[in-house]
Amino acid sequence: MHPLAPIISILILGLRSASQEAPGAATTAPSTETAAPSTETIVTVPISQYSFSAFPLPSQTPVAGVSPLSDPREPPPVGSSLIPDFAHAWAGAYQEAKNKIANFTLDEKVSVGTGVGWMAGRCVGNTPPIGVNGSKFPGLCLEDSPLGIRFADFVTAFPTGINTAATWNRKLIRRRGLFMGREHVGKGVNVALGPMMNIGRVAQGGRNWEGFGADPFLAGEAAYETILGMQEGGVQACAKHLINNEQEHFRTQESSDVDDRTQHEIYAHPFLRSIMAGVASIMCSYNLINGTYACENDKIMNDIIKREFGFQGYIMSDWAATHSTISVITGLDMTMPGDITFQSGTTYFGANLTAYVQNNTIPAARLDDLATRIIAGWYFVHQDAGDYPTTNFDAFNPANEETNEHVDVQEDHYKVVREIGAASTVLLKNTNGALPLKKPRSIVLVGSDAGPGKVGPNEFADQGGVDGILAMGWGSGTANFTYLISPLEAIQRRARDDRTSVSWILDDFDTDRAGNMAIGRSAALVFISSDSGEDYITVDGNEGDRKNLTAWHSGDDLVQAVAAQNNNTIVVVHSVGPLILEPWIDHPNVTAVLWAGVPGQEAGNSITDVLYGDWNPSGRLPYTIAKQASDYSAHLILGGQPTDILSIPYTEGLNVDYRYFDAFNITPRFEFGFGLSYTNFTYNKLHIAEVGGQASTDADLEESWAAGNATPIAQGSSTAIWLHRPLYNVTFEVENTGPVWGGDIPQLYLNMPPSAGEPPSILKGFTNVEILPGDKKTVGITLSRYDLSFWDTVAQGWRRPNGTIGVTIGTSSRDARLKGNITIA
Ligand code: NOJ
Repeated sequence: MHPLAPIISILILGLRSASQEAPGAATTAPSTETAAPSTETIVTVPISQYSFSAFPLPSQTPVAGVSPLSDPREPPPVGSSLIPDFAHAWAGAYQEAKNKIANFTLDEKVSVGTGVGWMAGRCVGNTPPIGVNGSKFPGLCLEDSPLGIRFADFVTAFPTGINTAATWNRKLIRRRGLFMGREHVGKGVNVALGPMMNIGRVAQGGRNWEGFGADPFLAGEAAYETILGMQEGGVQACAKHLINNEQEHFRTQESSDVDDRTQHEIYAHPFLRSIMAGVASIMCSYNLINGTYACENDKIMNDIIKREFGFQGYIMSDWAATHSTISVITGLDMTMPGDITFQSGTTYFGANLTAYVQNNTIPAARLDDLATRIIAGWYFVHQDAGDYPTTNFDAFNPANEETNEHVDVQEDHYKVVREIGAASTVLLKNTNGALPLKKPRSIVLVGSDAGPGKVGPNEFADQGGVDGILAMGWGSGTANFTYLISPLEAIQRRARDDRTSVSWILDDFDTDRAGNMAIGRSAALVFISSDSGEDYITVDGNEGDRKNLTAWHSGDDLVQAVAAQNNNTIVVVHSVGPLILEPWIDHPNVTAVLWAGVPGQEAGNSITDVLYGDWNPSGRLPYTIAKQASDYSAHLILGGQPTDILSIPYTEGLNVDYRYFDAFNITPRFEFGFGLSYTNFTYNKLHIAEVGGQASTDADLEESWAAGNATPIAQGSSTAIWLHRPLYNVTFEVENTGPVWGGDIPQLYLNMPPSAGEPPSILKGFTNVEILPGDKKTVGITLSRYDLSFWDTVAQGWRRPNGTIGVTIGTSSRDARLKGNITIA
């Protein structure tokens, strides 16, 4: 048994009882008008799993709008307009790190940034202990993934990034981050390799499901909340992949060619928000950017991330994405997993880096800087605490009883998995009152995605194979399922209560039989799916990226065969990204469509909660569903020879996803931000007011911005508080005019004047609100100077546009309900 096991279990017990005492601990929101709304179902308790040493922080002059003395273990509450200012926590961590490396030898400093090599440690990435038995520094365990812990047992398989984004619910996003952080800590992981924030630029992109969708603002908010939660939990987060890693094909041999404005406004924005959340580490990507490999890209790493955004943590390479020793000069701090190619026994760091420092090719000060940054990340989240759990699993040797202690870190995290699974489900179509189901007399479930796999749930390495319910994609962004609830299991349990007769056919290809079985049922539920993942695994001809946007396993035929026989055909889609739904979406017998994404281990319970109205759908699409694949603005670039560098020009610029559909007047099937509810909401009383009364120490910068000058962003502060502090408060009233309790996601889009050169409509705010039928609530969304700016490439700063800025409040990117204006004098 691990020496810390008793402490861990005491703590787990402690946390559990705290949760149980929480009032209203139901897992799903009520759907009746009498019950109180409750998304606050799981209470966040401060972690006390291990103590941590507080380091003295310099005193701070209070700044309006800033959370004083922000510590990553105590972030501002969700929804607070306070901006955390981690500068003081970083300063303290830097001081401790500098003290620590003061007695390191040159080789030891080099070792801090040099991974031990592929499969040479217990985690997917490891840095070595420094000093005898780690007396100087214990070394780091770095472990995937963005949705949990890869290669470990007794862990939670959380909903994917794309589902998390589809909730548009900051509280749920934060809570998932917190629980993932705690699980990593419980397993003795120092650095969790997520979140992933590449943009869903190409609908077929293999790893889109790991990330937060096709819009930078939504992705930025999801990254921000996830990181605040993870680091509150005590693990160092890792924002990845820096940057423009938007397709899998040729990912190590493609140059994403992106202009400076698009880079700033679209792709870099989630990284800026990550840095504002105090992210400890960032992972540079496999690809090249404008002709230079990401992990030796001075413009990206040094200029944008470290100088402009003021990043204080460290940049590690993606696995074997380091291309030179000199990358240290261009901003790389750590090479992972350490060897040049896996298990080659060679490294660009190690002895090579030592030699480069000795012959002054790389200044010694830069080596000190990288070692300081890495060790500061460890202090920053207080991993220096003496009782921080040591790694108690062995990623590559799960059967070795000596190195696997089987620590159960799941607690009751399944509750938030189930809740996010329901809250991320998007109701796309609902006619004839098909949903929610009301004690149907008989139902048939159709399709392999409705049931458990023939083998499962971890029989395909890194989930690279689809068999039964699809709950995550494949690749390194996965976790093992401790269990996996299928819709069939969950619906059967419900049918027992409702006394419903249930039958099923899980064979996707026997369409005749499926059609026949649908005859006479009160409802026929057809489950279809579509999968993708990382390029090192090919599934059914999909080399990571999807080869098309068609449902897998003849899903379209299945829907049509069933709809031909049953006039209440309800389609459930489990998919990593958009599908073309045209073959059947307008079929009059397809009465309802639920978009369930890839929701994690509680997939069956989550969809059952929505189908039966225990959860009123509040999910919104984090990308556009087009009528045809060619309608999207960007596509996979295929082909290329083994020695080629494939050019991927990002010629659509700012016109990613819905921005392109709007700019070119292309009608999508379901637009970005779309999602129906079992109730109705109306919006009234739009009011836009300047936020007053903020004493500012940066009045001159604010005045300069208001006068129309681009900001001198190169101050080296990510927070640049004055730029991000709320400037306008947009309020309006939301009323639930329908029959049941429900949650709504009002969205704020800006319509910049033509001179700004922006797409017609850009998301710059959203909130979520739960309302009882007949009730109304006033909600507020704030806008900062940054939100109201565009990136001026000549001046290299954020500049407000000239002219009037339109403000649209809507239920989606195309359903405007209220309109107002902002004119900056
Ligand atoms: C490569 C993937 O791109 C990255 O996301 C992952 O963290 C590493 N492999 C480690 O598994």
